[in-house]
Formats: sequence, structure tokens, C-alpha cells
Amino acid sequence: MSSTSNAVLKADHVWMDGKLIPWESATVHVMTHALHYGLGVFEGIRAYRAKNGKLAIFRLREHIRRFLDSAHIILLKMPYTEDQLVDACMEVLRVQDAKFPNGAYLRPVAFMGDGAMGLGAQNDTRVAITAWEWGSYLGDKGVKEGIRAKVSSFTRMHVNVNMVRGKISGQYVNSILAKREAVMAGYDEAILLDISGFVAEASGENIFCVGRHGVVRTPSLSSPILRGITRDTVIQMLQDAGRQVEEVSFTRDALYIAGEVFFSGTAAEVTPVREVDNRQVGDGKPGEITRSIQELYYRVVRGHEPHYEHWLTYV
Ligand SMILES: Cc1ncc(COP(=O)(O)O)c(C=O)c1O
Repeated sequence: MSSTSNAVLKADHVWMDGKLIPWESATVHVMTHALHYGLGVFEGIRAYRAKNGKLAIFRLREHIRRFLDSAHIILLKMPYTEDQLVDACMEVLRVQDAKFPNGAYLRPVAFMGDGAMGLGAQNDTRVAITAWEWGSYLGDKGVKEGIRAKVSSFTRMHVNVNMVRGKISGQYVNSILAKREAVMAGYDEAILLDISGFVAEASGENIFCVGRHGVVRTPSLSSPILRGITRDTVIQMLQDAGRQVEEVSFTRDALYIAGEVFFSGTAAEVTPVREVDNRQVGDGKPGEITRSIQELYYRVVRGHEPHYEHWLTYV
């Protein structure tokens, strides 16, 4: 695994079950239900140090709405409202702003706590929001030069197995197996196909592919993919720039012959893919569309683009 994805920098405070507590106190009992069975939901949200010097949280409400939807999907009772969770995210950053000169990654998590055991248990939901500084998820070199990806032997699960509109903790075992397999084989990231063999997404990112004629394609939301907020951001930015984006199914060999391939995700931001299954993509360097979207994304999240200012919540 890349060292950047493993690095956890400790912060001072964690918001847990309604209040701020010291980082060291934010612990749970080993009998926590979710630890055994995976019944939890989470989010990943980035805050950037904006050009006005403040931390700007990117698309905060959309992330919190997905968090609430994820809990609703798995029948996990959420004891807080959207507004309370938005305020809690702000508070976590406000009280330790100086700790994050380069921005922060926010991790809301909600899960079934301890009490009863067994699959029918109905214990109280625990909710925590932590923050840490997280660099480029797929490495600085990957962001600049592109990464090497491998189609996984693991399949994205059928839509009747995984709840694809939810960011559900237990479902990430599938992603972790794919990621580990790819990294152990010497690649940076795994690309998972759906059960019909069409490209779905990467272990923690959505995927885009640019055909030789400049048409951008990404799997549709009927595929077993997470409805990525960065995916939506990229689609909107491309369309605003007058580019056609097709949300369609495509095969793995479409990636082999694409002019450009890139991933999108909160953690990975916009990361170019320079090789898929040992086939060079395009000329083996980040392509023109990938570079321009990546550059625009960095400007947008730091408040340099007034047109997209509504996506930022300043702390
Ligand atoms: C499986 C998976 N797909 C896609 C994404 C990208 O989603 P987003 O852009 O909302 O971070 C993520 C990350 O959250 C993910 O875990």
C-alpha cells in the first residue's frame, strides 16, 4: 500500500455522540456490533485551505445527505439531523484549524454500537466525526504522472448484494481485497468489473475514459458504482466547458485503447491512469482533458473559481 494512504496524522479533537472529546478518548468497546458485522456507514470529505486563508469544505451538504441516505438504506437509526451533522463537521475543523495548514480530510462514521449481539440486534447508533491531514491518496507522483491500474479478479457485487447508493462499511471488504491484490501484484490501484464484465469503478474511485475523438465516458448510475460526488463534479465541469459526457457501459478493452483514463474521488481527487493491465493508455502521460479537469478541480476547491463558489462551505 502506498505510504500516503496509510498515514494518519493525529488531531486534537474528535466529535463523538454529540460532543467534542480528546482524540485519545474516542474509543469503542470490542463488543461493538459493527466491528463484528460491518453495519456502519461513512463519508470522506475534504476541506482545502482556500485563497482567502480559510478552510473550505467541499460539497459538505451533498456528503452529509449521502451519509444520511446510506444510514437510511441499511435501516441504521441516525440520531442527528442534516444540520446538526453539518455543524459538527464545521466544529471539528473550527476548534483545530491551526492543526490543518494544508487542509483536512473529514471522516463522519455512524455504526451500530455495543449491547446485544447477533444479526437481529438493535443497539444504539454511535456517530463520530474525525479529521486528519491526508495527502494525495494515490501518491504525489501518481497525481502528476499517472498511476498503473489492473483489472481485478474480484467483481463489484450485484446490485442485489451491495446497496450501491450507500457508502456502507462492510461493503468495503470487496474494495480492500481488490486493492490488496493489485498492490501486491505491483500496481497502484484495482479496477473492478460488474458481474456482466463491464467496467464499474476502482476500489475507492469512479472511472472516466476519453475516446480518441474526445468523447468522455463514465459508467452510468445503473452500474454497481458509488454515486461519487467528485464524479458529479467532474461531469458538471466538463459539460460547462462544452464537452460531451456519456454515462454508458463499456468494456475493459475500451480502457486499453482510450486516449485518456482517469479516476475521480474525494481522496484521490482527479488522478490520471497511465497504464491499464500493462497496456499504455494514450501516450503514457496524463492527457489534455485529464490535466485541464485536474487543474480546474484544484482551483475550484480552493475558491479560485467564482462560478463554483456554491460548492464551498467556509469554516
Ligand atoms: C467505491 C467508491 N467509489 C467511488 C468513490 C468516489 O466518491 P466521491 O467522489 O464521492 O468521494 C469512493 C469514495 O468515496 C468510493 O469509495
